[in-house]
Amino acid sequence: MITTTVEATRQAVAAARAIGKRVGLVPTMGALHAGHLSLIQAARSENDFVVVSIFVNPTQFGPKEDLSRYPRPFERDVELCERERADLIFHPTPEIMYPLSFTTYVEVHELQKVLCGASRPGHFRGVATVVLKLFNVIEPDVAYFGQKDAQQARVLSQMVRDLDVPVALRICPIVREPDGLALSSRNVYLNPAERAGATVLYQSLMRMRQRIDAGERSADVLIAEARQRIDATPGARVDYVAIVDYDRLQPMPRLKGKVLVALAVYFGTTRLIDNVLMDVPAEPEA
Ligand code: PAF
Repeated sequence: MITTTVEATRQAVAAARAIGKRVGLVPTMGALHAGHLSLIQAARSENDFVVVSIFVNPTQFGPKEDLSRYPRPFERDVELCERERADLIFHPTPEIMYPLSFTTYVEVHELQKVLCGASRPGHFRGVATVVLKLFNVIEPDVAYFGQKDAQQARVLSQMVRDLDVPVALRICPIVREPDGLALSSRNVYLNPAERAGATVLYQSLMRMRQRIDAGERSADVLIAEARQRIDATPGARVDYVAIVDYDRLQPMPRLKGKVLVALAVYFGTTRLIDNVLMDVPAEPEA
């Protein structure tokens, strides 16, 4: 079933709930790929009623970003959702989600302004706002997000905790192409040369992981090495390479504990992101 209004969606979910069904939600902007399908599969295996929302959310795009050219293959998305046995697709218009009278936004301070938030001001405000709206419309028991958007996952978990939103968040592993490139709806923008170069994100992360496993603990050293590798890749331009603690997303000069190694790289106007989460043992006493 496909719904486009808040009322019809609430009714469909209420009918499922009335017969005791547990509700899982997979929020998406469509252009579904195997990463999204892994979220729907996780939702399917853990819930009785699976909702996929498909909404290209204008408030999370900056004025110079790709809102108008963002891929919208809706019919194909519907087929994929049906193949994965989703029960309901919520596909609202921008006017339904943001009527002219709309004025309320969710801000997750501090966490929203670092990493991707530094180069995409307002992005996480848009994400937090639309996701809270989706939670309020669907009231899922569990919602599924990908680890590729690590900062998004952290921002949303903070929002849920701070605002006492009664939903559990499941963060599912990154799905990759055979050569390591993380799946993203934006990969379709890459020309063949950019696509070949884009493996540098994963390669840089794997090299950093190896160096950390071998005992390197200086963030400056690791970041400089990764930047050098990316700078040497034709067509690649670093937005950021960062090593932060996963709780506050703040830089950590010496690595220790739950560490997020994250990067964003431009190929032309296409911005790709990737990350690894690591549990780094303390350095041995000198
Ligand atoms: O991760 C995404 O696709 C989007 O940021 C989300 C969570 C669907 C909100 O628009």
